[in-house]
Amino acid sequence: MDDLVAPLFVADGQTEPSLIDALPGVLRHSVDSAAVEAKRLGALGVPGVIIFSLPKPGDKDARGSAAARSGGITERALGAVRDGVADSVVVMADCCLDEFTDHGHCGVLDPATGSVDNDATLALYAELAVFQATSGAHVVAPSGMMDGQVAAIRTGLDSAGQAETAILAYAAKYASALYGPFREAASVAIAGGGDRKGYQQDPANRREAVAEVTLDVAEGADMVMVKPALSTLDVIADVRQVVEVPLAAYHVSGEYAMVKAAAERGWIDGPAVALEQITAVKRAGADFVLTYFAGELAELLGG
Ligand code: PBG
Repeated sequence: MDDLVAPLFVADGQTEPSLIDALPGVLRHSVDSAAVEAKRLGALGVPGVIIFSLPKPGDKDARGSAAARSGGITERALGAVRDGVADSVVVMADCCLDEFTDHGHCGVLDPATGSVDNDATLALYAELAVFQATSGAHVVAPSGMMDGQVAAIRTGLDSAGQAETAILAYAAKYASALYGPFREAASVAIAGGGDRKGYQQDPANRREAVAEVTLDVAEGADMVMVKPALSTLDVIADVRQVVEVPLAAYHVSGEYAMVKAAAERGWIDGPAVALEQITAVKRAGADFVLTYFAGELAELLGG
């Protein structure tokens, strides 16, 4: 399949890959094993990977400062993967702070309200995007859903001489219960049992997605994404009608975990269901799909 992107988790301090309970078959990689895996995926015909860099638990703070730290996990993970694949696989970097903040939110908090401070977060995203580009990312993928994030990142990249770096905007990202296994994989817990409803979209709202996507394209997004995938097929189809840029969909951790869990019990044929689901996402209008099934499907389909 030439239209799949594989998410890779790369954890600081990890000496060899370890399993993630809630995502059977997905690994928390070391820097070295991530580079090997990216090469293996490329050889199978998977054209892209998206890297989630994860700090040591003790390295989290209120501002997520370990994300753009010189010599830190972001730089080492992206550097090793890019060195491994050069330009044979597109290297994307998830551009967000929740993995690095001790409160688990996608940005910095306003001390007065305790909720995310949109504008203060924009400057940090721009800085992180430049850092990811200089570390080896071809594409940065802002997933925090802050207003104005695409424009802030585009300006930051251009003024740092990174005009060639592309932006994949998580343009329509719904507040979903399907991100649960990801939070285990990335060791993200939102302080006080909070949620992201303040900055992610309401699943009952269909039209907002088209507005969000249109705004992101106007701000300079090179590609846009809808997330999750199966519960947004109508949205994917709507967005396909209104944008010219490539459209991605993210078949997220909960969507993957459900298939795996039922398949483990022998209740469904896992690979067949995976293929059916990803086909549906493409049929709805996605040009490419981010999925934890990327490697398995590429093997199944013979590259
Ligand atoms: C935020 C981010 C999340 C996912 C991708 N980027 C988590 C969230 O919004 O809570 C979820 C992906 C998945 O569930 O597979 N950095």
